[in-house]
Amino acid sequence: MKTHDICVVGSGYVGLVTGVCMAELGHHVVCVDADKSKVRTLKAGKMPFHEPGLLPLLKKNVKAKRLSFAHSIADGINPGGRRASVAFIAVGTPPRPDGSADLSSVEAVAADIARAMKDFTVIVDKSTVPVETGAWVDKTVRRVNTKGIPFEVVSNPEFLAEGSAVQDFLHPDRIVLGVSTPRAEKVMREVYGPIDAPVLVTDVKSAELIKHASNSFLATKISFVNAVSRVCEAVGADVTLVARGMGLDKRIGASFLRAGLGFGGFCFPKDLEAFYWIAKQKGYDFKLLRAVAEVNDEQRGWVLRQVESELWNLPGKKVGLLGLSFKPHTDDLRFAPSLEIIKSLQSQGVKVSVHDPVAAPKAKSLLKGVRFARDAYDCAKGADALVIVTEWPEYKELDLAKVHRLMENPVLLDGRNLYDPAAVRKLGFVYRSVGRP
Ligand SMILES: NC(=O)c1ccc[n+]([C@@H]2O[C@H](COP(=O)([O-])OP(=O)(O)OC[C@H]3O[C@@H](n4cnc5c(N)ncnc54)[C@H](O)[C@@H]3O)[C@@H](O)[C@H]2O)c1
Repeated sequence: MKTHDICVVGSGYVGLVTGVCMAELGHHVVCVDADKSKVRTLKAGKMPFHEPGLLPLLKKNVKAKRLSFAHSIADGINPGGRRASVAFIAVGTPPRPDGSADLSSVEAVAADIARAMKDFTVIVDKSTVPVETGAWVDKTVRRVNTKGIPFEVVSNPEFLAEGSAVQDFLHPDRIVLGVSTPRAEKVMREVYGPIDAPVLVTDVKSAELIKHASNSFLATKISFVNAVSRVCEAVGADVTLVARGMGLDKRIGASFLRAGLGFGGFCFPKDLEAFYWIAKQKGYDFKLLRAVAEVNDEQRGWVLRQVESELWNLPGKKVGLLGLSFKPHTDDLRFAPSLEIIKSLQSQGVKVSVHDPVAAPKAKSLLKGVRFARDAYDCAKGADALVIVTEWPEYKELDLAKVHRLMENPVLLDGRNLYDPAAVRKLGFVYRSVGRP
């Protein structure tokens, strides 16, 4: 196998997983980040965020001297006399107030790579970006690269999901390579050589669109089933059965058809908006995406609607929330439904207690006037309603009889349909779930 010297700029959920996994594949990798404290944490052999299975791989590859960390891009591109042949851009592309993607970090990193490179370099955009970003990166590098060092810009979108990122990276459904030349394609095939997955080679723009279109389609499936759940609630049908019946059709597939409190996280909400925005800028009003976002916003209101209909006067009532992260097995709180739900409850004078197995420390700096409970039972203590917000495995195995004893008013609002309605009601709960009678 041909190995490469690789620099990964941005050591967040995507960059760090990319860097660690590339080292695991046998490459020599330097992970760079502008955040000095993050680099210090990584150099100390610690994780800056929660991602199952990442730390042991990180330690293994540091020990094997295939993985190191740096603060400056120059040190990442030219580490100790070596030269990176591949530079990944994996920085954040957060939403601007108008919904478009903020690409200023991508531009800054592209320029720094151009200043630092000394030899042919493949510059790979791994961040999720709007179509035509590759052309802008190319232009930026050309402007800064006054010595005329040869380079190629590649789009290589990432499809990993937080919580299963290592597995997703090493065993992906597909690898998408948006390239302009056979030379760039050859290098990228070498980079991913040991991974056994279909490789789709496209032009750069198509690769960029594959990412936005894929995330928007998955978000559409979620909003679709959530909209169906509203009809189920109105007529007394069961959305889990409807979704099962739909999912058995191979053309539809069962994944992403679980009704709940809507999607969150750093990908779906912002990518949906950014895709809508770029389509509009190019002259197409992608109405469908607007509807997907609207349905998602409405679904966040499920908790408040249930609380209002069960608890009558809300000021002073106590509500416990189980789960803060936007999905289980991560501590990521970006665009998490929990944050909006808490805000809406607090605006009605509700006293909120919360619990999360891993995200609580991060949440402490974001949430004001909230009680952080020791565990799920402490969260239920004295509550007028308990809401399941995130489907952490431990919330599927609660001792519900104990929860019932601890609550002031045994109202269980299951925003993730974790429990069997009949069994829970038998224990004396008022039980409401999403789209089920
Ligand atoms: N998180 C996911 O599940 C996921 C999945 C697929 C794709 N993506 C995309 O990948 C990109 C990164 O997402 P993330 O979740 O890893 O973000 P993140 O915020 O966890 O990580 C980004 C990192 O980049 C660093 N950074 C920012 N500007 C920099 C600069 N100029 N120089 C060096 N470092 C800099 C930040 O300090 C941060 O550590 C985004 O475009 C995102 O949409 C994310």
